[in-house]
Amino acid sequence: MKNTTAIILAAGLGTRMKTGIAKVLHKVGGKTMIERVLGNISKAGIKDIVIVVGHRSEEIKRSLKDHKVKFVKQDRLLGSGDALLQALRKAGPVKDNILVTCGDAPLIEKGTFSGLIRAHISRKVSCTLLTAVLEDPFSYGRVIRNENGDVYRIVEEKDALGPEKDIREINVGTYCFGKNDLARYIRSIKMNEKKREFYLTDIVSILNENGKKVSSVVCAPGEIIGINSRVDLAVAEKELNNRTLKRLMDNGVTIISPENTFIHETAVIGNDTVIFPFTIIEENVKISGGCKIGPYARIRPATNIAENVEIGNFVELCRTTVDEGSRVKHHTYLGDTIVGKNVNIGAGTITANYDGKNKNKTIIGDNAFIGVGAILIAPVKIGKASRVGAGSVVTKNKNVPAGKTVVGVPARIFE
Ligand code: UD1
Ligand code: CA
Repeated sequence: MKNTTAIILAAGLGTRMKTGIAKVLHKVGGKTMIERVLGNISKAGIKDIVIVVGHRSEEIKRSLKDHKVKFVKQDRLLGSGDALLQALRKAGPVKDNILVTCGDAPLIEKGTFSGLIRAHISRKVSCTLLTAVLEDPFSYGRVIRNENGDVYRIVEEKDALGPEKDIREINVGTYCFGKNDLARYIRSIKMNEKKREFYLTDIVSILNENGKKVSSVVCAPGEIIGINSRVDLAVAEKELNNRTLKRLMDNGVTIISPENTFIHETAVIGNDTVIFPFTIIEENVKISGGCKIGPYARIRPATNIAENVEIGNFVELCRTTVDEGSRVKHHTYLGDTIVGKNVNIGAGTITANYDGKNKNKTIIGDNAFIGVGAILIAPVKIGKASRVGAGSVVTKNKNVPAGKTVVGVPARIFE
């Protein structure tokens, strides 16, 4: 991919989002759209990346300050055709192959980008278009093919006439161009009178009319979602979640009700773990095999769960480690906690980990037994095989020695 420049179009207004921030800064799966696009392009092996910004450009630039990309400003938002023209004018030297994609299509995978570029190079054409066949093609540009089946023209939803609206093959908004033909013919795009914009999509018929070859690559419908509205955003979120759930199920995790389970893409979960419905697993969570999680569990970031652990309903874990065979089965909050092996945490146990300034740690030793409704005020250590009576409040630094029982408010050793 050395000989490829990627140009990401992200200058648009995002009117349909009805938002006070740049559209591409909305998050899907906890990551901004533009970061996802950038990430997948980089993973495809492309290093030379240009982003066209316009509306709320400073906000976008700031959010990407740690990335190595060039920004080009589109001063007047005159459409996708103009956005690309500005990039070619202002970005400095570009490579022979130009990958163009939209900042609002965050689910296109790295292999799809690299496959498109490879097809483009091997077919020696002027333009290779990424397409998808959708059940419902509404709102996307439709791909019109000639009698030989070659891509001839793209017609936008607004301009589609009668039978054209029934075409289910759509333009993803991702293209690979040869730089010379692109530079030469992009100037021939005329303003669309209805929208008063220069449509990049018009270049397809222009190339054809000038005897240039246009080819296409079809990709999976789930990848192509272009996010123009909050409804699209929810569709993308769901697609991403489905991908994660499928990966986990393929690796031997049981997910009882995928439509009611939300798992971040970074999750690592071992086989024969069962995830019960209405469970939410957030970023950077690791769960080993043979566990039971949920229903109604919320496992928050930086949590690590070892083999054969049970986490039950209405349990929230945050920055917490739970070792083998332990059980946290009902209505509990554990934050910044280390739980040893074969510990039983009674219903309604709460670690008070935040003192208003700092997050403090609770350490619970192997084989400890915490009675129902206990409050553990951190920092505190509960010794191995010790017992905390129901309803006790173990106060700060009043560590419970190994093998002892404490009871009461504040908790005292019970002889
Ligand atoms: C576009 C395509 C459509 C395709 C769809 C895929 C055109 C004319 N149509 O439609 O065929 O099916 O994407 O999602 O391209 N942009 C700028 N500057 C502008 C206008 C737009 O940079 O002046 C950027 C936007 O930020 C966006 C991309 O170009 O990333 C596409 O623009 P958008 O308005 O979202 O086009 P769609 O109607 O979605
Ligand atoms: Ca769009």
